[in-house]
Amino acid sequence: MTTTVKMTDLHPPADDVRADVLEGLQAEGQKTVPCKYLYDARGSVLFDEITETKAYYPTRTEMSIFDRESASIADAVGPRAAVIELGSGASLKIRKLLDILDEPAAYVSVEISKEHLAQSAEEAAQAYPDVEVQAVCADFTRPIEMPEIEADHDSRLVFFPGSTIGNFTPEGTRAMLARIRELLISEADAAIVGADLEKDPSILREAYDDPDGVTAAFNLNLLERLNRELGADFDLASFHHEARYNDQKKRIEMHIVSDREQTVSVAGHRVRFGAGETIHTENSHKFTTAKFSALAGEAGLRLDKAWTDENDLFSVNLLRRA
Ligand code: AVJ
Repeated sequence: MTTTVKMTDLHPPADDVRADVLEGLQAEGQKTVPCKYLYDARGSVLFDEITETKAYYPTRTEMSIFDRESASIADAVGPRAAVIELGSGASLKIRKLLDILDEPAAYVSVEISKEHLAQSAEEAAQAYPDVEVQAVCADFTRPIEMPEIEADHDSRLVFFPGSTIGNFTPEGTRAMLARIRELLISEADAAIVGADLEKDPSILREAYDDPDGVTAAFNLNLLERLNRELGADFDLASFHHEARYNDQKKRIEMHIVSDREQTVSVAGHRVRFGAGETIHTENSHKFTTAKFSALAGEAGLRLDKAWTDENDLFSVNLLRRA
């Protein structure tokens, strides 16, 4: 297929897996690895599989909110919006949004992976011939410079679904919301941000440790990646996946637990593990609407609307400039 999609490359800096991983594994106290390293090719496939498990409710629930509240969402956003999606992993979600909205004018896909970016933008351009589609290769954890949008549009709509906002530390969340705020330039502009809600911890633990073991495979895939890319020698049989609910911080933490005392070689360095010692691989913060609203306020945004499902599992939040 020939492409008609304009691509703006903001040249996001390449990952330094070796430096990041060594820093995290050689830290005093809790060992960590940045969660972005979970998403290599196999990790991305496994994450998609997670979203299809019975236990992992967020994706399905967020989609059901878009269905249930489609008229209300379209009404709140208004016609001829230029949609800016930050991290275009989930093509199903952007389609749902573009289907709901009244005559969307443009879709700008912002994504760090050139491959994912080209694919998502191309697919959208084919499916929505009346929508101006653009691609921006950028890291959304840094300030994002928007290219000119040619199509006439009445507003901007920043779209950040999937509770990715929950991956950040509280300070990181504030900074992310502030970057979203920077993309809103007029009173008519808005952002739609998905946020997972606080709930019975047993539901959370099950969602992040599904009985089919897909999440366990997703987490442990990190060790396979480090073996392959850094010449590490993790013995996968002597580590296991754990999903912990940290009630004080209101977050699910994914850990990889060492079953025994052992020493692993990583990029030529020896890394010692005690029995039961863990690598902390991901945080997934849960919010109340009140807390989310307060965080938004600290970033110069106000919560205009919050849509939830009938069981209050997940929230879809409409934010505007305060
Ligand atoms: C893609 C970050 C939203 O935190 O729920 C799912 C990642 N990790 N199961 C989440 C994830 C384990 C997911 N996010």
